[in-house]
Amino acid sequence: MNLIIRPLKSAEDGRDLEEISMAAWGSDGLDVIPGHLSLTVAKENGGVILLAYDDDRPIGFCWGFWAYVEELQTWKCASHQAGVIPEYKGKGIGGRIKWAQREYTLQKGFDRMTWTFDPLETMNASLNIRKLGAVCNTYYKNLYGHMDDELNRGIETDRFSVDWWLASDWVQSHADNNRQIPTVDSVLEQGGMLLNQSCLKDGALSPQRLATPADLAHAPQHLLLQVPRDFQGVKKISLQTGVDWRLHTRELFTAAFANGYTAIDLILGDPVCHYLFKKNWKF
Ligand SMILES: CC(C)(COP(=O)(O)OP(=O)(O)OC[C@H]1O[C@@H](n2cnc3c(N)ncnc32)[C@H](O)[C@@H]1OP(=O)(O)O)[C@@H](O)C(=O)NCCC(=O)NCCS
Repeated sequence: MNLIIRPLKSAEDGRDLEEISMAAWGSDGLDVIPGHLSLTVAKENGGVILLAYDDDRPIGFCWGFWAYVEELQTWKCASHQAGVIPEYKGKGIGGRIKWAQREYTLQKGFDRMTWTFDPLETMNASLNIRKLGAVCNTYYKNLYGHMDDELNRGIETDRFSVDWWLASDWVQSHADNNRQIPTVDSVLEQGGMLLNQSCLKDGALSPQRLATPADLAHAPQHLLLQVPRDFQGVKKISLQTGVDWRLHTRELFTAAFANGYTAIDLILGDPVCHYLFKKNWKF
């Protein structure tokens, strides 16, 4: 592969982005950011929109703009979307695009980037939290309402809103691949608490609660929460089980954030991954 990552500069680039987006989300085009809007933002109005090509084949993008944060009186990059076409997913391209977006944003003098993703999509969590070192303490319930693309259809669009502190040691340790990788056993041995577990019900991986939201008021420093590794697969077997996961995790994520926890890692596993939360986390 000959990977080239570069800023969006022309109307043709805008159309490349539309195509990548349709393929990445399995969308019919209605939910896709129009090429002309991408061009306006990138060319004239202060955005960071990068495209990835394998030679001249468009394969990925990220789309962000500079946003003023009223309460902190600072600027940040609000990154709205990143996408990679299905054939190239899981090969490190998304990571390369996001690291390039970090460099570009730091060069412009901003040290914070935010974006949202579905916390039940573990590939996204794996990239955003585990690989990049973004963290989350904000949960939005059904943020985008009903969406009709393949990934979102039938399930309310709850989202994590992550902060990526671009110049922090925390993020640098992820960039350098130089950090302690936790395991479920090591967290539990150090007194961490497992909030839920999964079991097979009618052939679909289903959630079971081990803790209630009220338990989190006096819980230990570290929490673990299970999510299915293949949420789309669960939805295919039983959409109702997908909905159950949404409601179950919504309750526990919301309670964790309300009690001062931050999601700081995703521990990979199969058929489940574990989110790791830490209380009063500071970078
Ligand atoms: C999210 C997305 C941009 C990530 O891009 P990508 O190129 O696939 O990401 P990367 O390969 O850099 O990183 C994904 C990581 O997750 C791992 N992974 C793959 N499948 C996984 C799964 N089911 N659960 C957990 N981790 C998984 C990959 O191995 C990789 O880690 P590694 O580099 O340590 O091996 C891409 O999958 C995508 O376009 N998804 C659809 C659109 C979307 O949801 N966009 C994000 C919201 S705006």
